[in-house]
Amino acid sequence: MNKEETKKQIEKLREEIRHHDRRYYADDNPEISDAQYDKLMRRLQGLEAQYPCFVTPDSPTQRVGGKPLEKFGEVRHRTTMLSLANAFSAEELTAFDARVKKILETEKDIEYITELKFDGLAISLTYEKGVFRVGSTRGDGVTGEDVTNNLRTVRAIPLKLQGKGLPAVMDVRGEVVMFESDFEKLNKEREEAGEPAFANPRNAAAGSVRQLDPAVTARRKLTFFAYGIGFCEGIDFSSQHEALQFLKDTGFRVNPNTARCRNIGEALEFCRRWEKKRESLAYEIDGIVIKVDSIEQQRALGEVSKSPRWAIAFKYPAEQETTKIKDIIVQVGRTGALTPVAIMEPVEVGGVVVERATLHNEDEIRKKDVRVGDTVVIQRAGEVIPEVVKVIKEKRTGKERPFEMPGKCPVCGSDAFRPEGEAVARCTGIACPAQIKERIKHFASRNAMNIDGIGDAHIDEWVDNGLIKDPADLFFLKKEDLLKFERMGEKLASNILEAIRRSKAAVLPRLIYAMGIRHVGEHIAEVLASRYNLEGLKNAAEEELQNIREIGPQIAESIKIFFRQKETDEFLKKLEKAKLNIEHVRPASDKLQGKQFVLTGALSGFSRDEAAALIKQAGGRVTSSVSKNTDYVVAGTDPGSKLDKAKKLGVAVISEQEFIKLVKK
Ligand code: IVH
Repeated sequence: MNKEETKKQIEKLREEIRHHDRRYYADDNPEISDAQYDKLMRRLQGLEAQYPCFVTPDSPTQRVGGKPLEKFGEVRHRTTMLSLANAFSAEELTAFDARVKKILETEKDIEYITELKFDGLAISLTYEKGVFRVGSTRGDGVTGEDVTNNLRTVRAIPLKLQGKGLPAVMDVRGEVVMFESDFEKLNKEREEAGEPAFANPRNAAAGSVRQLDPAVTARRKLTFFAYGIGFCEGIDFSSQHEALQFLKDTGFRVNPNTARCRNIGEALEFCRRWEKKRESLAYEIDGIVIKVDSIEQQRALGEVSKSPRWAIAFKYPAEQETTKIKDIIVQVGRTGALTPVAIMEPVEVGGVVVERATLHNEDEIRKKDVRVGDTVVIQRAGEVIPEVVKVIKEKRTGKERPFEMPGKCPVCGSDAFRPEGEAVARCTGIACPAQIKERIKHFASRNAMNIDGIGDAHIDEWVDNGLIKDPADLFFLKKEDLLKFERMGEKLASNILEAIRRSKAAVLPRLIYAMGIRHVGEHIAEVLASRYNLEGLKNAAEEELQNIREIGPQIAESIKIFFRQKETDEFLKKLEKAKLNIEHVRPASDKLQGKQFVLTGALSGFSRDEAAALIKQAGGRVTSSVSKNTDYVVAGTDPGSKLDKAKKLGVAVISEQEFIKLVKK
């Protein structure tokens, strides 16, 4: 290829990658597998390395690259980033509507658009002729922080817009958000690493964007919902719904849950509907934003004291409650981490009765000055166990007792050790029953080996009675061993043994994750499994591990420490003896390339997660609901409404047998 041809090829690859970025990050509807995508990216990287003169800032390869900063620069917003006035009741909404009508001097119904109010970080993105130039936080509304390099790493933010006739300059407004599942994963990793957990997804999103090192932001899973246009030179929109459509057309992720309402009554109905439905969202919202749809009317309404008069936020009650701390206990995790937990008077928060809340670690307790007997505000963030937000000091009687972190493990009595610079103290006992139990529970858990039917209480009992000492012992359990315990009948024992047997066919990433190596979460386990088998991983040199992009010195060291332990050796020998057939299921292929599956009903040969893993390995994708983009619906026994929907849309429905043929063919 000569220089000219290479340039053309580079442009073509970029267009292709942008298209797939959009399908994946904005539309949530990819056409190709991750492996195929990586291939495109590697080709582009190769060509750009050959011809650095063709590298442009809007190339998909240029997402991570900025150097760590000392501090952020300032950005002056071309139009102020306003905030919203709140309404907490139907009356307040009606009053808002009346005010709007009064200013517009009309008695006619006002058309509104309702949108979810995302609980993240507001940002502004400047595009010049369709190319992303500057990204900034809201700051005081007039001036914000320049977080451009961090925002470049957010894949839902297009570096180049699609379409013709793009405005010369345009500021896009929206919210950076972290999904609850990603938030929980991040916090788990942080707790394991002895770093303080984030209080909620919003703090995690904000903390990740306001990071001085873009490489750190790049590792955090963030997304971006565009919800408005600020300054814009070149296009005049006549309504908010038109602006949203434009944002969608040019490549932004625009949330589909919006509605055009003919009057305030319909807007209120939308608010009520989402108050219940919001639990089903993968991210947090704290209310609904109601906006006057017509831009002309918006202009006429204007703004007062930093809030527009054409919009209002209908806020949902916070998922916070007050209760009293009866005791503070210390829990031992599988890596020996000692976590103080508040035992509280039971209280209902967001529809769930809770009586425990995490206090994270000693420093957190000091910082918040939490004492036994205190009245506290607790909150639920996502699915995680609730946490103590703050103490209501006015309620103190003087009888409250400060908490002392014990110097010894409350379970095995070994010394607790808190390394310098870490927030978490750990039990040093190698044979600590609490650690053993937690390790086995982790091994059997859903995202690890997914051994169905074993409850935490079983594992506690089996460890206490010396039946099992490490996770691999599960594979040698016999029915007569199990039947010795109370509340264990024939049927349950058979089911458990069958589930253990089935787990032997797990895929390698799950096994690596299940081993519970510190700092090795699901993602890192996948990265490792794509390069090594178990033996290879065991023998990999620390330096070699560190050369893998996602793996830093801390993870590499932790892997080496794990495999150096005598206990690991014994564990691996037992695994070998148990004859797991993990390798058989693995080899990745792309025979289901780009195919979308929906699973419904119970399958007899494998769990849903296993079926999903098979599909993913073959390049396919699993989604939760049936749409016209679905290629196959796999129907097990007792299929649900998804089957009806598939029939209605004319999507192919296949049986478990047909599915097996398809993946194994
Ligand atoms: S419109 C002038 N739309 O809510 C209108 N804001 O107090 C300003 N927010 O921090 C924003 N979802 O980031 C708008 N669909 C949405 C929103 C939204 C969340 C946030 C916004 C700001 C706060 C407004």
